[in-house]
Amino acid sequence: MPPSDDRVPPVRSRRDVLKGFGSAAAAVAFLALLEPAAVARPTDGGAKARGLLARLTLDEKIALVHGATDPERLGQAGYLPGVPRLGIPPLRMSDGPAGVNVAASATGLPPVSTLAASFNPELAREYGEVMGREGRTLRMDVLLAPQIELSRALFFSRNKDQTGEDPYLNAQLAVAQIEGVQAQGMLAMAKHYLANNQRNGELNRSDPDDPATNFDFRVDDRTLHEIYLPTWEAVVRAGVASIMAAYNHLNGEWNTENRATLTDILRGELGFEGFVTSDWNSVHSVSVEDGLDMQMPDGTYFGDPLKQAVRDGTIPESAVDTAVTRILGQYDRFGLLDGSRKSARAAIDVEAGARTAREVATQGAVLLANDGALPLGRAALRSLALIGPTAAQVAVSVSGERAYGFEDRMVSPLAALRRSGDTDPRHAVGVDLTGTTVPADVLTPADGTGHGLTRTPAAGGAATTDATVDFTGDQALPLGSSYVWSGTLTPPTSGEYRLMIQAWRGAASLSLDGEQLGSAASPRDGFARKWSSIVPTTDGLDNELVTVTLTGGQAYVVRIAVTGWADTVHDRGPVEVRLAWVTPEQRAADIRAAARLAGQVHTPVVFAFNGSGGSTGGGGDRTTLALPVHQDELIEAVAAANPRTVVVLNVGDPVTMPWRKKVGTILLAGYAGQEGGWATADLLLGRANPGGKLTMTFPKREADHPTLDPAHPERYFGVDGVVTYSEGVFTGYRHFDREGIDPLFCFGHGLSYTRFSYGRLSVSEVRDGLEVSFTVTNTGDRRGAEVPQVYVGAAPHAPVDMPVRTLAAFEQVELRPGQSRRLTLRVDERRMSYWDTAKGRWVLPAGRRKVEVGSSSRDIRLKGTGTPR
Ligand code: BGC
Repeated sequence: MPPSDDRVPPVRSRRDVLKGFGSAAAAVAFLALLEPAAVARPTDGGAKARGLLARLTLDEKIALVHGATDPERLGQAGYLPGVPRLGIPPLRMSDGPAGVNVAASATGLPPVSTLAASFNPELAREYGEVMGREGRTLRMDVLLAPQIELSRALFFSRNKDQTGEDPYLNAQLAVAQIEGVQAQGMLAMAKHYLANNQRNGELNRSDPDDPATNFDFRVDDRTLHEIYLPTWEAVVRAGVASIMAAYNHLNGEWNTENRATLTDILRGELGFEGFVTSDWNSVHSVSVEDGLDMQMPDGTYFGDPLKQAVRDGTIPESAVDTAVTRILGQYDRFGLLDGSRKSARAAIDVEAGARTAREVATQGAVLLANDGALPLGRAALRSLALIGPTAAQVAVSVSGERAYGFEDRMVSPLAALRRSGDTDPRHAVGVDLTGTTVPADVLTPADGTGHGLTRTPAAGGAATTDATVDFTGDQALPLGSSYVWSGTLTPPTSGEYRLMIQAWRGAASLSLDGEQLGSAASPRDGFARKWSSIVPTTDGLDNELVTVTLTGGQAYVVRIAVTGWADTVHDRGPVEVRLAWVTPEQRAADIRAAARLAGQVHTPVVFAFNGSGGSTGGGGDRTTLALPVHQDELIEAVAAANPRTVVVLNVGDPVTMPWRKKVGTILLAGYAGQEGGWATADLLLGRANPGGKLTMTFPKREADHPTLDPAHPERYFGVDGVVTYSEGVFTGYRHFDREGIDPLFCFGHGLSYTRFSYGRLSVSEVRDGLEVSFTVTNTGDRRGAEVPQVYVGAAPHAPVDMPVRTLAAFEQVELRPGQSRRLTLRVDERRMSYWDTAKGRWVLPAGRRKVEVGSSSRDIRLKGTGTPR
C-alpha cells in the first residue's frame, strides 16, 4: 500500500471540481486548498471494499449499517462497532458543527454564524482543521459537520450553526470546512439533507405518523436547484465522505426514505459516492433501497428488521451490499482499513486551537453602525462602563452540538479590557442571570409550618428542613447526593419573576404547581456542560432560567430534585444546587442602576445576547426577533441616560432593534467562542479592525421577511401541516430587493474603522462566464479587511422571474492604509443561469447582465454590464 500521508484522495477529478464552482476565483482558491488531496494516493476504485464485502456474513453487514452503544463511552453521538474479525475498526461520530462534542474538552470555537461573517474560506478551512485535528486526538472518526443548510427562516433556532441566506456563500464556506476536516484524516458528514429549515413540524417523535404535527415541506424543483441544492452539489464535488438525511418530510416523503432526493438527485444528478446516515432517530422504515445507507444511533429498522427482510427476500441483499460498499469505500479512502490513515496527534494543541478561535471571533465581528464611538477614544477609555451579563462573562455560544471549550481560558470582555492596561471599566449587570438565593421567608415546608423547604433523601429516609436551597461552594452536598425539596413558594408581589435552578455535579430540576419548568446540569452521554443558558452563573454553576408571572401572596407548590451524577459521568464531585430568582422589583432596579452608571461615564457599552441553552442543537424555534429578558428595555434606558451608548450584540442571527435610532454605534460580535473576550476587547480598543459582513438580512420588522409576512402563513409556520416555500428563489435579500423593502441592515453589510474606495471596473466575457476586475483602495488610516462583493442582475428576457441581484463572487482583502489591490473575480455562468424544470437542466438566458460591485448588497460602488456567452 502507498504510505500514509496527510491527504485524502478526491472522489472527483479536478475538472469535475472546477465545473461545479461558481466563480473562477472561488474555484482557483478552492483548488489551491484541494491541491494536496489532488496528488494523494490513487484509490483502488473500491476494490478493497468489494473484496471485504465478499467475506462479510449477513450479520456483519447488518452491523455496519446501524449504530450501537460505544463500550468505551467517550461521549460522542454515534458509534459503529466495525468488524474486528476483518480488521474493520469502529467508527466514532461526534457533533459538530462547532468543535468536537465529547466528554473530553476541545477548543470552544465560535459557532459557524460568526465564522461565516468573515466571508473568508481560508479561515473556514482552518476552522475545519481544528475540528478535524482535535477530533482525531479525541479518537473520533467522523465529524457531524458542517451544517450546510441555508438559513431560510428567521425563527429557525439552528441558524447560528449555519452560514446564512446565500447558497453561493454557503457553498464556499462548507467546502473549505470539509477540506479542513478531511485533511486531518477525519470524515466529514454534511447535514441536514434536504430543506431542513425550521424546527417546527420537522418531526414529532412521539407520533411520527400524525400529519398535523409532522409537516410536509413543499419546495418546487427550480427553488430546490437554485437555492437549496447548490451547497450540496459543492460539497459532493469536494469529496465529502458522508451526508446526514434530515428529520423532516420533503415533498411528501421523509428525508430518510426519499428516493427522489437520496438516489435520483444525490447519487444521480450530483454524483455522490459516500454514504448517507440518518439524523438521530429519524428513520421510519427499512429504507435502504431508497438510498439511506446507515441508521443512527441504533438499529430499530436497520438492525433485526433489515436482516429479517433480507431473509424473507423482501429486500434484496444487494441493497445492503450497496450500502456497505459505500461505507467501506470511505473507510478505505481515509486509510482506515490498512493503517495508512494520517496519524492523530497525541494531545490537543490548546494554543493553536485558541489562536483560531480568537481569529474567527475577530474576523467574524460585524460593525453594523458607527457614529465615531468605536474604536474607543481616550476620553471613553478614561471613563468607560460595560453593561450586561455577557460583558462580564464571555458569550461562547448557545446550546449544544459544539465543543464547550476550555473553561479556564474563558476571559470576559470586561476582564480582557482591564488586562489590556488601557482602561479600567466599571460594570453593571443590567440583566442579572445569576440572581440571588430565594429567601426562607417566601418558602414554606411541606407540612405548612415555619420557613424553608422540606428535604427528603431520594433513597428514602427522614425528612429535614432547609431554610433555603443553596448548597454551593463550601456548603456543597457530598458526592452523589440525591434529594428532593418540597413545599410552597409565596411571592411577595405580583409580576414577572425570573426563576433559576442552578447546579453542578448533580442533575437538578424545578417544578412549580406540578409543571416541570426546567433542569440544569443533566448529563448527556456520560458528560455534562454548563450550557443550559448562555453563560453559567457567576460562581460557575450550570443555570436554567425560566420566566414566570406570579401572583403576590399566592402559594405555589415547589419541587426541586437533585440527582448526584453517577460514577459513569465525567468530573464527579460534591453536588452543588441552588434555587435563585430575580424579582420584578430587582429587575427594574438592575436596569435603573445600569442607566445610572451609564449617566456617570463618558461611554457606556451595553452587551446584549439572544438564544437559549440546552445540550442539543437548537430546541424549539423562536417566536420573536426581539431580544429576550428585557434587554431592549435595558438598552433604551442606557441610551436615554447617555447618547454615546455603544451596543455589542452576542447573537447568531437577526434581531429587531427598536432602539436603533437612539444608538449610534452597534458592533455585532456574534457568539464569540472561548477566546471571544479577547477578540471583543481588541475590536473595542481598535487593536483589531472589524471586517465582517452580514450573512443574513436584518429586517426592520418581522413582517418584512419573506417567511414572516402575515400574508403568507404557508411559508412559516405552515398551514394544515404543510409548509410551502412559496417565495421560491426569492429568499433572504432576494426578497427585499424584489419588493423594494429597506432592511434594517442588508445582506453583505459591515463597516470598518477605515474606508475603502472602489474603482476601474472592467467586465470581460470569458469562457463559461464573466471576469470582473476592479481596484480596491484603503483610503483611511488603519489597516483593515474589506469584502468586495460581485452581484449579477437578472437576464432581460428570461422566461422566469430572476432575482434583482445574485451574489456571484466575493473575496476578503486586507489592505494597509493607502494600499490598493486589483482583484479579478470570476462569475461562473451557473450564477447567471436558472434551472429549467421542464428540461431538467440549467439554462443560461441570453442577453446583457448588470454587474455590480459593492461593499454590501445595497452599497454598490461600481456598475457595469457583461454578456455571458
Ligand atoms: C441533530 C444532529 C446531530 C445528532 C447527533 C440530532 O438531533 O439534529 O445535528 O448531529 O442529533 O447528536
